[in-house]
Amino acid sequence: MDKLIIQGGAELRGEIWISGSKNAALPILFAALLTERRVKIANLPHLHDVTTTIELLGALGVTVSIDEKMHLAVETQTLTAVTAPYELVKTMRASILVLGPLLARYGEANVSFPGGCAIGSRPVDLHLKGLQAMGAEIEVDQGYIKARSAGRLKGAHILMDTVSVGATENLMMAAALAEGTTVIENAAREPEIVDLANCMNTWGAKVCGAGSNTLTIQGVEKMLGGDYKVMPDRIETGTYLAAAAATGGRVKVTKTDPSALEAVLLKLKEAGAVITQGDDWIELDMQGRRPTAVNLKTAPYPGFPTDMQAQLTAVNAVSQGCGRVTETIFENRLMQVQELNRMGANIAVEGNTAVVTGVDELKGAPVMASDLRASAALVIAGLVASGETVVDRIYHIDRGYECIEEKLQQLGAKIRRVPN
Ligand code: UD1
Repeated sequence: MDKLIIQGGAELRGEIWISGSKNAALPILFAALLTERRVKIANLPHLHDVTTTIELLGALGVTVSIDEKMHLAVETQTLTAVTAPYELVKTMRASILVLGPLLARYGEANVSFPGGCAIGSRPVDLHLKGLQAMGAEIEVDQGYIKARSAGRLKGAHILMDTVSVGATENLMMAAALAEGTTVIENAAREPEIVDLANCMNTWGAKVCGAGSNTLTIQGVEKMLGGDYKVMPDRIETGTYLAAAAATGGRVKVTKTDPSALEAVLLKLKEAGAVITQGDDWIELDMQGRRPTAVNLKTAPYPGFPTDMQAQLTAVNAVSQGCGRVTETIFENRLMQVQELNRMGANIAVEGNTAVVTGVDELKGAPVMASDLRASAALVIAGLVASGETVVDRIYHIDRGYECIEEKLQQLGAKIRRVPN
């Protein structure tokens, strides 16, 4: 397993570009299963989760090819199987997103129960209940979800009792080819949902209301094909800005979308950052100052994203003052705290809240990445700490950050990857 070795202390300075969004890319790749003609997808990030998704499509017999511009072409005519095997699904929870499209298009899908990040129990009941409301028969057998539909799925009125990004996406994809109209209430409003809806509409679906909490999907008999460019990654954007804030630096991120990041920018401003932005760029300047600690509570979009919680905890760890960070979306998502404390941070956990008292200095240490965003928090801490930090188990980071060490090196960080 590779490790990252970081010599802390350098203020981050410079400019980097942001990759395509992982969390938009994955559902968009699965949505290709809904289409009858070739689709082309641009701006896909080079990440393990994207590779796993492509492998999963390959295991179904789908033809996936990459052209000279690194655009991915997907053709479904060659599909031979409707089973997403355990070996692939266990490495990536988002594999559950294959369920809706497979069932809607082929009337049958078998998907192993998902694995992924170790951040709480993360059930899939909302995905299954929604599909049942559309007429699917679902049984669980030997660790597999087996879903069947006699004929097309039927449009339904679905009220979700919890806001779920994945369930909204799965049901939106299933409804696209259903007979009649589906209304999803209490839908997730995340920008990745809007990106998926825009993509599906480009390919011939009829999805209205994406970005609001009520989605209306008028089922169509067929979705054809077309080209689509994945949106920029708002969490990657926020992570580099948080790293810049923690180190007192000045960083400009380009090829991004500031409008998707309002809640995060608000907190970074509160922490003392001067932020300027254009249509597709953001610059953060700490003017050499140490950040001020901020309070925050995660919430579904447009609230503060749970995927930025660990990174802001790391910023708070080196700030002036005390900040309370409350996680409301996932249980067990404060796993970065123990490792940050091993670097000299002063963080106490009270239930689902991390009470972070900023310290003058963190000290480099060997630390272990436990999930994707917790790993990003450890990298941020390593960039600020005195001495050397070794971050182990960085396969978690490679699931969500494209070329992280190269991008940080471009900003002046002393960071390198070593194979174990
Ligand atoms: C997606 C993101 C992830 C992000 C999360 C919340 C992808 C690939 N991943 O994950 O990065 O952290 O949204 O913004 O896009 N829940 C249920 N039953 C269900 C489904 C979910 O109770 O059937 C609960 C979950 O346990 C959790 C909450 O709903 O407590 C939100 O989860 P959800 O929005 O579904 O997260 P994911 O789609 O898995």
